[in-house]
Amino acid sequence: MKTKLPGIAVVSTLCFSTIVQADEPIQPIRPVQEINLAQVELGKKLYFDPRLSKSGFISCNSCHNLSMGGTDNLRTSIGDHWQQGPINAPTVLNSSMNLAQFWDGRAADLKEQAGGPIANPGEMAFTHTLAVEVLQSISGYVNEFKLVFDTDKIDIDQVTQAIAEFEKTLVTPNAPFDQYLMGAEDAISTKAKAGYELFKTSGCVACHNGPAVGGNSYQKMGVVEPYQTDSPAEGRVAVTGKDADRFKFKVPTLRNVELTYPYFHDGAADTLKEAVDIMGRIQLGKKFTDEENEKIVAFLKTLTGDQPGFTLPILPPSGDRTPRPIPFE
Ligand code: HEC
Ligand code: HEC
Repeated sequence: MKTKLPGIAVVSTLCFSTIVQADEPIQPIRPVQEINLAQVELGKKLYFDPRLSKSGFISCNSCHNLSMGGTDNLRTSIGDHWQQGPINAPTVLNSSMNLAQFWDGRAADLKEQAGGPIANPGEMAFTHTLAVEVLQSISGYVNEFKLVFDTDKIDIDQVTQAIAEFEKTLVTPNAPFDQYLMGAEDAISTKAKAGYELFKTSGCVACHNGPAVGGNSYQKMGVVEPYQTDSPAEGRVAVTGKDADRFKFKVPTLRNVELTYPYFHDGAADTLKEAVDIMGRIQLGKKFTDEENEKIVAFLKTLTGDQPGFTLPILPPSGDRTPRPIPFE
């Protein structure tokens, strides 16, 4: 998927600020800096634990699969009782860099976001009270919460805090494009370099910029011509109530975009080729030739970084009082 250059990690830690070209609209992703390791370990378990859902079957990882770029690769997600979700699941990778969470930005940060899916009837369909009761019935968790938060009583605040802390570790540094930005000229192909030039000169960088190549503003979907979709989602207007925010969505990160198909809030674009073509036409009034499109796609594929690598967490076993999964009721 990408070429690893020997010794590049040393370059990135020692000379990070000196080698990066200062005038580029995209900056390399930095590895996580400050993190509470005990909370991360607990949060990792909770992220993978389906017992936080009503059915006992759906975990965060069901829809944000860390083996698949932090997404489910579905147009829209499958929730409790095989319900069809209303909107595409964005990746959790690098989501700590977003200005806010969700397509419409309705959650301020990861901690606030994490409470949402557990209680969302179309996703995990549980309640916070019941989720906490389940955790309280599992002695392994009771002990670990006590160690991490110094308390005998688990609450939802600790649950979302730990999950959010784990999510902060889900950054993907060291993409070939980052190596290129840091001075490794050969880290990306000539075609990808040409694609990056097109990405800049065509105006994509007006909205897709910064270390996450997006995630830092709300922009209208369909600037030059309207976007045709069956999705009822209207974007940011749902939060602000302002008519000017209709069809404004949080600009998605393009980091790891090769892995996070299908694209757009309705998941309607299956391929990068299609997504780039639509973006060119409806955001910029540009019809790319096949060759130009291929170059941009080649560039986008250099944004795949090191995926989170960790030992799969082993979840503490249910206690005798822990409710058993009820996926069919
Ligand atoms: C049933 C599928 C499903 C499950 C389970 C689920 N999510 Fe999501 N997640 C989604 C969808 C769909 C969205 C987008 C919703 C929206 O924007 O309105 C989303 C959005 C997010 C976002 C915002 C990302 C961004 O760029 O805005 C984060 C972070 C996230 N989920 C984390 C989690 C965590 C943590 C859990 C477990 C507690 C979880 N999700 C469980 C489907 C799911
Ligand atoms: C005016 C701002 C703007 C410009 C300019 C723009 N984009 Fe986007 N881009 C967005 C928004 C907003 C979305 C999400 C739209 C949605 O799903 O409703 C998006 C989505 C995408 C996606 C899909 C990502 C995903 O995970 O779903 C890709 C790929 C993309 N843009 C590439 C490009 C390229 C390439 C260009 C230049 C040809 C470009 N964009 C120009 C705002 C912009």
